[in-house]
Amino acid sequence: MAQVGHEVRVFDIDAAKLAMLARGIPPFYEPGFQELLQSTLASGRLLFTESPKEAIEGAQLHFVCVGTPQQQGADAADLSYVEAAFQAVVEHADRPGLVVGKSTVPVGTAERLSNSLSRPDKVCELEVAWNPEFLREGSAIADTLKPDRLVFGVTSESAEGLLVEVYNEILEGGIPYITTDLATSEMVKVAANSFLATKISFINAMAEICEVAGADVVTLSRALGYDERIGARFLHAGLGFGGGCLPKDIRAFSARAGELGAADAVSFLREIDKINLRRRERLVSLVGSAFSGDFLGRHIAVLGAAFKPNSDDVRDSPALNVAAAMHLKGASVRVHDPQAISNAKKMFPTLTYCESIEDACRDADLVVLATEWSDYRVIDPKEFSEIVRRPVLVDGRNALDHSLWTQAGWKVYALGRGKLNR
Ligand code: UGA
Repeated sequence: MAQVGHEVRVFDIDAAKLAMLARGIPPFYEPGFQELLQSTLASGRLLFTESPKEAIEGAQLHFVCVGTPQQQGADAADLSYVEAAFQAVVEHADRPGLVVGKSTVPVGTAERLSNSLSRPDKVCELEVAWNPEFLREGSAIADTLKPDRLVFGVTSESAEGLLVEVYNEILEGGIPYITTDLATSEMVKVAANSFLATKISFINAMAEICEVAGADVVTLSRALGYDERIGARFLHAGLGFGGGCLPKDIRAFSARAGELGAADAVSFLREIDKINLRRRERLVSLVGSAFSGDFLGRHIAVLGAAFKPNSDDVRDSPALNVAAAMHLKGASVRVHDPQAISNAKKMFPTLTYCESIEDACRDADLVVLATEWSDYRVIDPKEFSEIVRRPVLVDGRNALDHSLWTQAGWKVYALGRGKLNR
């Protein structure tokens, strides 16, 4: 928002993060973010403050961008952060304004919050709009400044006008926008993530069949992807989806559909979740088959800890999940990641972490590719065959050139590659 010319004041309850951001240091890894942060700070249009009052007073629009994680012990979303942020706006707003939710919420939340905004003691009308966020980690900046579309859930023409004005510079680039009601705008986000999760699990279900039928999921996916009605994107078979969004969003959507009495409509999402989690088990069993079932005392190198490349996010990371599972089975597991090691250590302190790919692979009985960072695509399999104890590779992301690896003397296993694994 500061980049497209607005005056922005940011409040967060995490003072340490605010302090880093104010110094131009991102508290997480995101390509290009540090440069953008520093240039917008230098413009003077971006301010980080520990005072919600300072952030909220005088503003025309209040963007609520807090997380909606999965509730402990339940599938539904935890809305306490969204509710607290709305409360802060109600408490400190000193003029009429628009409260714009960007968080992913169960359908019906915006209307409910709308009813909680009135404040009898003050002449200060606040209106709610919903403007779901579609950015992906790892390409967040391009997704924000050049999104595929913008969605404005509003209850008045003036709210739509304000949002169009705020996004003017982005919309001028020819980006389409859709104006709709609050409920539809909330649904767009969860439906989009459900569709993406379904596409990934669909190809991973095909991978399961390929494994038993001796067929090849990578070729299958390529051939399917040329059909424009299907499309090649998000049809990459491997360890499946993780992160702070797709897994919890499909669960929260199922939970909300149940509350609305429509659980059957999205009961397939439970299957999508199960297919996804089965990929992790399958990878561990592939590794087990390479060891004749005996993990004890084996040295395994796991390349990748983040839930996807170009991110240091390890929330529900398939890579760390399989690393921990193999560790539990008695293997000695060494994990490498170009960016996510410090986050991974906090979540799984008992695993061993290495700063270099070579250190992770030294004397390994088997190497697992678990997150497809470009750093791993350029590994020279010949050189690495001399570092490891046994040249055995399990490609959990179908990301490497297997012919190069086999030519260099490696035994290669991969998910969904029937013939390869025989
Ligand atoms: C996802 C959506 O793609 C965004 O549009 C959305 O804004 C975001 O969630 C959110 O709700 O905030 P993100 O979680 O950053 O974005 O990452 P994705 O690119 O969707 O990848 C999710 C997972 O699916 C990763 O673990 C990735 O490795 C996996 N994946 C992706 C596959 O296994 N196969 C594929 O073909 C594509």
